[in-house]
Amino acid sequence: MSAVLDELFTLRDWLRYAITRFEDAEIFYGHGTENAYDEAAWLLLGALKLPHGRLEGFLDARLTTPERQRIANLISQRITKRIPTAYLLQEAWLGDLRFYVDERVIVPRSYFAELLADTLQAWIPDTVTDVLDLCTGSGCLAIVLAHHFPDANVDAIDLSPDALAVAERNVHAYALEGQIELIESDLFDEVPERRYQLIISNPPYVTTAAMEALPPEFRREPVLALAAGDDGLDVVRQILAQADDHLTDDGIIAVEVGHNRDLVEAAFPDLPMTWLDTEHAEGKVFLVQAGDLERR
Ligand SMILES: C[S@@+](CC[C@H](N)C(=O)[O-])C[C@H]1O[C@@H](n2cnc3c(N)ncnc32)[C@H](O)[C@@H]1O
Repeated sequence: MSAVLDELFTLRDWLRYAITRFEDAEIFYGHGTENAYDEAAWLLLGALKLPHGRLEGFLDARLTTPERQRIANLISQRITKRIPTAYLLQEAWLGDLRFYVDERVIVPRSYFAELLADTLQAWIPDTVTDVLDLCTGSGCLAIVLAHHFPDANVDAIDLSPDALAVAERNVHAYALEGQIELIESDLFDEVPERRYQLIISNPPYVTTAAMEALPPEFRREPVLALAAGDDGLDVVRQILAQADDHLTDDGIIAVEVGHNRDLVEAAFPDLPMTWLDTEHAEGKVFLVQAGDLERR
C-alpha cells in the first residue's frame, strides 16, 4: 500500500486507481451505482466529505497523507471484504435525500422514490391524510412520503427493532418525529386502527434460489430484508390478504417486487393490477385499488 501512497496525489489519480482496482476485482454493483466510475466517485466524495455528485470541481485537488491512507483503506475493504460502499461510508442516497445506513438495514435503492415523484401521482386520491410504509427498513421511503405529503400522517412499520433504530436516526435527522410514527409490527399486526389512502411496501421478495446465488455484497444485508420463500412471494401474499382492511374505499396499495413480475402474475391471475414504470425500470412495482382487493 505504501508504494501507492507515494505515487497517487490528486483526486483524479485516486479516481483512476479506484476504477482500475474495482474493474480488476470484478466487484458487484447495485447498491446505488451500476459501474466502477460511479462507485469510485461516490466512495471518494463521501470519504472526503465533498458534495455528492460534484467530482469535477475537485479532480485536481491534492490529498493529504491521512486522506490518502483512508481512501486506500476504503478501496481495499470494498474489494477484499466486498463491503458495499454505502456501509463503508454509512450513507445512501435516494435522489437528493441522504440516509444513514449500516448493516442492520438494506441499502436504500427502491423505485418508489422515483415513482412517488412521477407516475404514482396520477393514482393518488385527492386528499391524503394517512399513508403507510410497510417494511420501512431505514425509514427512507417513509421520509420520501413525508416530503411528498407534508400534511399527512405517515406510519412506518418494520418487524426488526434493529432496522427501526436506524429509521429512528433518519427520522430524527430530517426532524420528522412529529409526522412519522415508527411501529414495530409483523406486517399489519400492530398497525393503528385507521384507514390509509396510500400504502406502499418494498417487502422482502428474493426467491430461495436467488438467495443461494446472491453476490457477496448482497450477503452483507439482513436476510430478513430479502428472503421471501420459494417464489419470493411469502410476504407479498400476506400483504395482499390483509391490505383491504386498512385502505380507504378509494385507497391504493403499491408493492415493489423487483424481477418477480411473472411470478406475481402467476400467483394472482384474477387480481387487477397496474404495473408502474420509472425512467429507469419497467414492471418492478404493481398497484392495486382497494375496490379490486375487496372483490377477490
Ligand atoms: C427490502 S427491505 C425494504 C426497506 C426499505 N423500505 C427500503 O426500501 O430500503 C424489507 C424490510 O422488511 C422488513 N420485514 C421483513 N419481514 C417483515 C414482516 N413480516 N413485517 C414487517 N417488516 C418485515 C425487514 O426487516 C426489512 O427492513
